[in-house]
Amino acid sequence: MALISPDFTFSHQQLADLDLNAFAPSFANLPPDPYVKGDFRFRRYSRYTGPALSRLPYDDFVQSRSINYLSGDIPREFAEIEPTLTELAEFQHLFAQVNGFFGLDPARAVYGVHQIRITCSGADHGLPVPEGIHQDGFDLIAIACIARNNVDGAETGIFYHPQDEPAYSATLFPGDIVYCNDRRVYHYTSALQVSSAGVCGYRDVFVITVTLKDEQWKNSILQPASSLSDSSFQPLGV
Ligand SMILES: [Fe+2]
Repeated sequence: MALISPDFTFSHQQLADLDLNAFAPSFANLPPDPYVKGDFRFRRYSRYTGPALSRLPYDDFVQSRSINYLSGDIPREFAEIEPTLTELAEFQHLFAQVNGFFGLDPARAVYGVHQIRITCSGADHGLPVPEGIHQDGFDLIAIACIARNNVDGAETGIFYHPQDEPAYSATLFPGDIVYCNDRRVYHYTSALQVSSAGVCGYRDVFVITVTLKDEQWKNSILQPASSLSDSSFQPLGV
């Protein structure tokens, strides 16, 4: 299994043979994200590595302010992902598909798994990424949609440059997964709102970040032509 080319940019695929309902109990048990204003984002976070998928000691999640002007340089401490989720065959199967697409040897990668629910109700829109168009600050990422319930919107865009029109945009439905080279492209997901009034809506995703231990791969990638200043990152639609 060969590691994906450094020239790879992004790809929208579908997960195969996954019982997405198996993830539902753990998404229903996510605690609020204490780092956003408003009660619309719920999340857990853990890190893993291979060869078997084993959880690494907890480390706060920190992004550089150069890529996250809202929460950058702030160590964020999230609740750990529940062991019962990690032990699920579907969780292992999800990882196998991510590894298969990227050609990853799990022993040569460190994964961050963000389990996130965004909710909306009435006039309260959920905003998946308040920081706007961004990179996560890793080598590769995968965004897997696990559930959408009574939700409109939440369109995912991929950008070669954060000030350009999207190179690609799509609504991710349950079972859809977008793979990105986080060194080459930027991503964003727009606000979501309820499709039927009177009932709350939610969108569940896993965001899997990958840090490669393969320096040759990293070094073969030129950084984006525009290394942006903080002020270039502006929230959209807020
Ligand atoms: Fe992101």
